[in-house]
Amino acid sequence: MILVMTEPNHSRDSIESLLPSEPFIGVFDSGVGGLSVLAQLTRKLPGESFLYLGDSVHAPYGDRLPGDLFELTGRICLWLKAKGAKAIVAACNTVSSTIISELRALVAPITIYSVLEAGVAGAVQASKSQNIGVLATATTTGSRSFESGIRTYLPAAKVTGIACPTFVPLVEDNRIFEPEAKLSVAEICSRFTDQEMDTVLLGCTHYPALMPLLRKYLPDQVSILDPAAVFAEIIYNDLAGNDLLAEGGKGNSLLLTTGDVRQFAASGTILLGKVPDPVFRLDSSELTGFSPLKTAHGRALAAQIAKSESSGQCKSKPE
Ligand code: DGL
Repeated sequence: MILVMTEPNHSRDSIESLLPSEPFIGVFDSGVGGLSVLAQLTRKLPGESFLYLGDSVHAPYGDRLPGDLFELTGRICLWLKAKGAKAIVAACNTVSSTIISELRALVAPITIYSVLEAGVAGAVQASKSQNIGVLATATTTGSRSFESGIRTYLPAAKVTGIACPTFVPLVEDNRIFEPEAKLSVAEICSRFTDQEMDTVLLGCTHYPALMPLLRKYLPDQVSILDPAAVFAEIIYNDLAGNDLLAEGGKGNSLLLTTGDVRQFAASGTILLGKVPDPVFRLDSSELTGFSPLKTAHGRALAAQIAKSESSGQCKSKPE
């Protein structure tokens, strides 16, 4: 059993006092999944300060529609911007595959880095056979964003996406060592039957927590790609190229969840590679004041998303 010292509810004043005073990099996801990205970011960028926000109270994101995702993550991005983020990392493929351009427009000129672009880059580099499997949430799979991203570089690539709706709850609830996790992973892996497939991309940042099971049940010839290290490299190069790296920074990380701090710490340990401690709770009501719908620009972007959803052109219908 992992014992963690975590901090329960914090009032608005005390959260304010915890926020970095220097420009920081905001990282967000629906819950603990993005910690797999944060682990690589802190390794690659040890002088940077990070603020990680896991919106655990609204997890999973993976079967939500784009309008809902825009409301939830638009608030987070506007809040991070207001608190002094110099860049934002969307450590969530579901968001990256659906509403990333609207989020980018919402917080411009701040850059939002998309983990999906790192997955595409990593898969294109890794696959020799150009036959690639992608495990992702239902919304990400339905968007076909990995397929179109990979085909931009490898037009003849065969990309097989499989939605794994049971995986995120297993990780969030820290049930990855339960027999049901084994059954679930075995069932999903058995659907990959193509002998030519040489790479399976983890298209959801929660899935590295299931790596030992995935390795056990995927065919031996398949390499499993967690794109977090590629993502950290892309972010490092972009920050360096834009002269945005912290000079002589001490490299602090502040971890916040909108959910239960102890649950977050326990479920996040494998993904972060150490016990995430301390973790503070940010009440999600603190974010509602940052709703994109509070500005005319945000309402216009939300209307754009609603229009494509209702016209059926939305690339993000969950499968
Ligand atoms: N970890 C996120 C992703 O990469 C979100 C998963 C979820 O909440 O369903 O898609």
